[in-house]
Amino acid sequence: MIPSYYQHFCPVKILSGNKAVSNIPFEMNAMGCKKAMIVTDKGVIDAGLINIVKEAFADSDRQIGYIFDETPPDSSNRMVNKLAKLFEKLSCDCFVAVGGGSALDTAKGANIVVSEGTDDILKLQGNEIIKKDLKPMIAVPTTSGTGSEVTKVAVIYNEEKNLKMSFVSDKLYPRIAVLDPRMTMTVPSKLTAATGMDALTHAIEAYTCIQKNPIDDIFARAAIELVRKYLVRATENGSDDEARLGMANASLFAGIAFSNSMVGMVHSLAHAAGGVCHLPHGIANAIFLPYGLEYNIAKVPQSIAEISGMLGGSIDYMEPEEQASVTVSMVKNLLKKLNRISGLPIRLKDAGVAEDKLPAIAKAAINDGSLVFNPVEMDYEEALSVLKRAY
Ligand SMILES: NC(=O)c1ccc[n+]([C@@H]2O[C@H](COP(=O)([O-])OP(=O)(O)OC[C@H]3O[C@@H](n4cnc5c(N)ncnc54)[C@H](O)[C@@H]3O)[C@@H](O)[C@H]2O)c1
Ligand SMILES: [Fe+2]
Repeated sequence: MIPSYYQHFCPVKILSGNKAVSNIPFEMNAMGCKKAMIVTDKGVIDAGLINIVKEAFADSDRQIGYIFDETPPDSSNRMVNKLAKLFEKLSCDCFVAVGGGSALDTAKGANIVVSEGTDDILKLQGNEIIKKDLKPMIAVPTTSGTGSEVTKVAVIYNEEKNLKMSFVSDKLYPRIAVLDPRMTMTVPSKLTAATGMDALTHAIEAYTCIQKNPIDDIFARAAIELVRKYLVRATENGSDDEARLGMANASLFAGIAFSNSMVGMVHSLAHAAGGVCHLPHGIANAIFLPYGLEYNIAKVPQSIAEISGMLGGSIDYMEPEEQASVTVSMVKNLLKKLNRISGLPIRLKDAGVAEDKLPAIAKAAINDGSLVFNPVEMDYEEALSVLKRAY
């Protein structure tokens, strides 16, 4: 059914394929940019990936102003402010973010600070608070999970309050997303599984949340089908370039879907667990996804039922509730397989979360913005009960 009203927006130019990174200087030229601030982290440098970017610049007249590699896991308000200062001091004119969601979101955060002419990201929080146009940003994801290269979201860790803040604005879309299979080939097996589950969670929550719409359903469906085809393959064999490019596209499609539809309770729990005990985002989503789906079955059985077909199950003319339970079992089976292949934890206790942290996670989860879009409301007691089930 077409909803009575919906919106869809994605202004990002997408370059996907082998050697796509080599087009970055050309695209900078087309945008009128000369000097790039490269934003990355130590893990990406150690994996040798910045050399691929440097090679691309070597044959061009565009410049690398600086390579900022201090991005911490989950970004942070302090690093965002530091990067913004450097960007201005070195007179850079665009951001080229090369990394996982943490590097991409650090660049987005610094871009807000620079463009709004402030000195502290914490002075600007909330939805659609950004008034000025941002500097051009090129996003080169090196994990296949967050979809940040095509989203209007930046998630920044607030070091003072120990929580993850989401910035949401149409101005936060990067100008260009570059998917190059060479950039994800080095992701270790467990991280491949975890980030792939982040992508799957984006697609599933986009398909089942209250802002779902026909255009984003198409992207979510395509993302789920790509995950089904390629996630286990990429986790088993990191050098499978077809599977790597498949997962990079899955992550991007899921990003387009959820940037418009938004996510739901699985992400509110994952953001909370990330803030309270630094549980990596992909692992958190992997653990919470089956329990979030079970929680939502009563309200949206049809949407959850349809996902079983996208995951490769047969549609057996069951009642929607029954078919939706098949979806949950299929997600659990996928998790078990990923656990066997890569050691991906699938219970909170196996991910090193102390049981006495559950109340703090539940409290943060019910205050997280993603929960607004979940089909079913969740109070503190209900959140705690979901967490205990996932423990
Ligand atoms: N902006 C959005 O739309 C959005 C959406 C979902 C999640 N997020 C945020 O993104 C962050 C998580 O991002 P992530 O899961 O991509 O992890 P990440 O960026 O934190 O990276 C995880 C680790 O992987 C390493 N790494 C990255 N690419 C690699 C490669 N190719 N080879 C080897 N190592 C590599 C990094 O060095 C790092 O140590 C969280 O803060 C999450 O909240 C943002
Ligand atoms: Fe996510």
